[in-house]
Amino acid sequence: MLNKLLFVVLLACNVQAYATTTEAPAHAREAAADNYKAYCMQCHGTQGNGKGVNIRDMSATPRDHTDAKSMSVRSDETLFKVIKEGGSSISKSILMPPWEGTFSDEEIRDLVQHLRVLCKCQFGS
Ligand code: HEC
Repeated sequence: MLNKLLFVVLLACNVQAYATTTEAPAHAREAAADNYKAYCMQCHGTQGNGKGVNIRDMSATPRDHTDAKSMSVRSDETLFKVIKEGGSSISKSILMPPWEGTFSDEEIRDLVQHLRVLCKCQFGS
């Protein structure tokens, strides 16, 4: 029981620490924008609007990352998971590849922040 309680308390602290993390520094933001251009744009489009050059051959349409409405229902944790582990990790298309072999966790977190810039949205807003 006490263990359980401690776990919940620790979890709450963790969530708070995550939520109060300040924005990524400028160099990390630029690196994320570059990574997006190099690795995501061919499917998600130059503007991040889901209209990349690949899509005419694809059965699932890549997410429009500029769509605040659909992006704000996703928490940062979910976006992190789908980038790291691929579409199938959140029951989405396998056409969204997993990137864990390409990016470190930190780079993935910066990509999530980049997505928040593209959608001009936050989770739940
Ligand atoms: C080969 C094409 C392709 C590439 C490259 C690609 N994606 Fe995707 N992505 C997709 C497709 C297709 C979906 C939609 C999956 C679905 O709706 O079933 C998607 C969905 C997503 C989603 C939304 C999941 C959701 O429903 O909320 C995120 C976030 C995402 N991609 C991020 C990225 C990032 C970041 C990169 C670059 C590191 C990237 N993608 C590269 C094809 C791609």
